[in-house]
Amino acid sequence: MNKTLIFAHRGSAGTHPENTMDAFQAALDAGADGIELDVQLTKDFIPVVIHDETVERTTNGTGWVKDLTLAELQQLDAGSWFSPSFSTARIPTLQEVLQWVSGTQLILNIELKNGIVRYPDIEKKVLELVEQFNLMDRVIISSFNHYSLVEINQLNSEIETAILFMEGLYEPWNYAKGIGASGLHCFLAVAVPELIIGAAKAGTPVRPFTVNEDHHIQALISGGCSAIITDWPEKAFKIRTTM
Ligand code: G3P
Ligand code: CA
Repeated sequence: MNKTLIFAHRGSAGTHPENTMDAFQAALDAGADGIELDVQLTKDFIPVVIHDETVERTTNGTGWVKDLTLAELQQLDAGSWFSPSFSTARIPTLQEVLQWVSGTQLILNIELKNGIVRYPDIEKKVLELVEQFNLMDRVIISSFNHYSLVEINQLNSEIETAILFMEGLYEPWNYAKGIGASGLHCFLAVAVPELIIGAAKAGTPVRPFTVNEDHHIQALISGGCSAIITDWPEKAFKIRTTM
């Protein structure tokens, strides 16, 4: 059986402010095989890395990401909400993260946030950047917006895409295949053995999120998931090492 990979959710979000370079570097240092991050567009249509559609929870600013320019967003403190020791952390651009990833061996899972706010051409902009850094074979694009994944596949059928979903679906590998996606990124509670085994038989990778409890990490690794997406990559790495 292949080793279950460890993807650090928003970087090492359990120990560092999520979706910052500090969190990504910590994930690399922890032994993660990949990182997951969230992408949205600024007012001036630059892909930036932030989870929420608004900046209040993870910065000292206010407002919607879509209403702030890159220059305005980059003035915000994206670390103090987590701990005062991260006050220099900023919202990274996707370009900045891709540049950094290209100097590592990490797999990069880019989640397109394109639901509550509809970002024009986010698919094209993200794809262009991934191509620019020649990272096509190390990037997986996922989204809860499956129309965005279809668009990605129409723009470039070589890039790996994965459906995000929260609820139990019957034989989701058939649905994923039907829209041209090759991976299943499901809420951990729906990653039941029937799903993991059926997906494996169909050759479809399963990468549940967000797998933080020790017993869930152990169960999903021994169950044969292709990867787990976790806030705690260091802990997951240690657990995997002992199995
Ligand atoms: O990509 C898995 C997971 O990150 C999806 O949910 O809300 O944490 O972006 P969320
Ligand atoms: Ca995400």
